Amino acid sequence: MSDNPKRAAAAAALELVRPGMKLGLGTGSTAAHFVELLGVKVKAGLNVVGVPTSEATRGLAKHAGIPLTTLEEAPELDLTVDGADEIDSRLRLIKGGGAALLREKIVANASKRMVVIADSGKKVAMLGAFPLPIEVIQFGLEATKRAVVKAIERAGCQGEIRLRLRPDGHGLVTDSGHFILDASLGRIPDPEALADGLAAVPGVVEHGLFIGLASEAFIAGPSGVEHIA
Ligand code: 5RP
Repeated sequence: MSDNPKRAAAAAALELVRPGMKLGLGTGSTAAHFVELLGVKVKAGLNVVGVPTSEATRGLAKHAGIPLTTLEEAPELDLTVDGADEIDSRLRLIKGGGAALLREKIVANASKRMVVIADSGKKVAMLGAFPLPIEVIQFGLEATKRAVVKAIERAGCQGEIRLRLRPDGHGLVTDSGHFILDASLGRIPDPEALADGLAAVPGVVEHGLFIGLASEAFIAGPSGVEHIA
């Protein structure tokens, strides 16, 4: 196994790629390994196309020589490979640490299969230690934030909610022009209830709870790569 668990997980997912596949390309440092390894195969003659989940991944994929397409041209993808910030035993995820959760969720939902690649530090007994990213419209930010707090409380959670900032102190703007609220909840005992509650808040574009989307995961640790399906 590679001494880099993220790369080992990416290499395991690469084995699932077949000629002719339409692929969703995830975002983050683990997904970047997959893009790089896929690029090597493409240069060796593998025929695939990719839909990137962020402008950052678009840049990496172009650099790696992977032909790109869009969900307009390819509305159903064969396989998406993406990282995660947390993953539980039921393949429920927190995503969005890289601010790409909206496109990541659209691409995962458009895929027959979503495979998560991660190092073993991402495995949790209960979701919530990683702050939950919530993508919101810029208009009405304070009102949306209050409504988000109520939705969080109704789902049996509590914690601090912060606007994600850029290094210059301004609100970070996502690839789709929105802000991100990070909710530090500690524990999310009922992710489904929280997902439903957040989805019902006007101004919330999407949240980082990925439920029922991942079909399998490759989790790499010191003793090898675990396959969860
Ligand atoms: C980006 C994501 C990433 O997949 C997640 O943050 C994991 O990133 P990394 O592989 O760098 O740990 O959801 O929005």
